[in-house]
Amino acid sequence: MKIVSTIKEVRQEVANWRKEGLSVGFVPTMGYLHEGHQSLIKRAVEENDRVVVSVFVNPMQFGPTEDLDSYPRDLEADAKLCEATGAALIFHPEPEEMYTDGFCSFVDMNGLTKELCGKSRPIHFRGVCTVVSKLFHIVTPDRAYFGQKDAQQLAVIKRMVTDLNIPVEIIGCPIIREADGLAKSSRNTYLNPRERQAALILSKSIFMGRKLVEEGERSAAALIKAMTDLIETEPLAKIDYVEVVDFSTIEKTDTIQGETLVAIAVYIGKTRLIDNFIVTVS
Ligand code: PAJ
Repeated sequence: MKIVSTIKEVRQEVANWRKEGLSVGFVPTMGYLHEGHQSLIKRAVEENDRVVVSVFVNPMQFGPTEDLDSYPRDLEADAKLCEATGAALIFHPEPEEMYTDGFCSFVDMNGLTKELCGKSRPIHFRGVCTVVSKLFHIVTPDRAYFGQKDAQQLAVIKRMVTDLNIPVEIIGCPIIREADGLAKSSRNTYLNPRERQAALILSKSIFMGRKLVEEGERSAAALIKAMTDLIETEPLAKIDYVEVVDFSTIEKTDTIQGETLVAIAVYIGKTRLIDNFIVTVS
């Protein structure tokens, strides 16, 4: 496995593979990799001849008061995980490589970004779409893998690829959780032991919500209330949102029908965590 930091080197590697007729899978990440990321890399290795993993903490998707500087980084551990999982190349650029002097072009989306994380993180998806479309142009993968953990991001990327005719297949992968239910996240490292315990309220409310839907609940308002009430029993938890939206449009819906995303964002102390489930009700 190689680690490269320039766009030129990525292009050269991919060009060599293409000459041999090999397929290319791609997993974009911000590093500090855990089993959630690893599940995407594994799937990519299964389905492609060569796999590229990008490790880039993208400044453009962080708001001015967010955790860009404190975001955890450990390239050595990331390289070990990628190598052990079968990736062929890590692309680890410096911000200056991605955003050269005078940079002023963005990929912005008019829909799908008004609700959920788009509401509390107004510039976030512009940063995500811009960097992911740049990475797609650099790596030119056949398939790219995204976690359902960031369900709105997955929906946004699918829409962007359709709208801009980017020739890549987007593959969504299930949420990987800790044994006690907490969705794995690089940000879980911010939690102290008491907060780590309190953070279980997210997955508890997700499991409870899913059960209510399975038992026949179809009212978004009733579901939101039940989940909100449960989260509010945890004194360290502060709700950012509990929402029910159509998964493909990310627009609020009153009834649980079709492919529906039930998503939450909750502060545990200063750490903002997200979780969700998707149900298809005919
Ligand atoms: P990051 O948070 O590092 O996540 C990279 C990928 O791993 C995303 O597709 C995310 O959904 C997936 N992932 C994270 N935790 C997961 C879990 N517990 N189970 C399954 N998949 C999980 O998302 C980003 O980086 C960035 O926004 C990025 C797309 C790289 C653009 O900068």
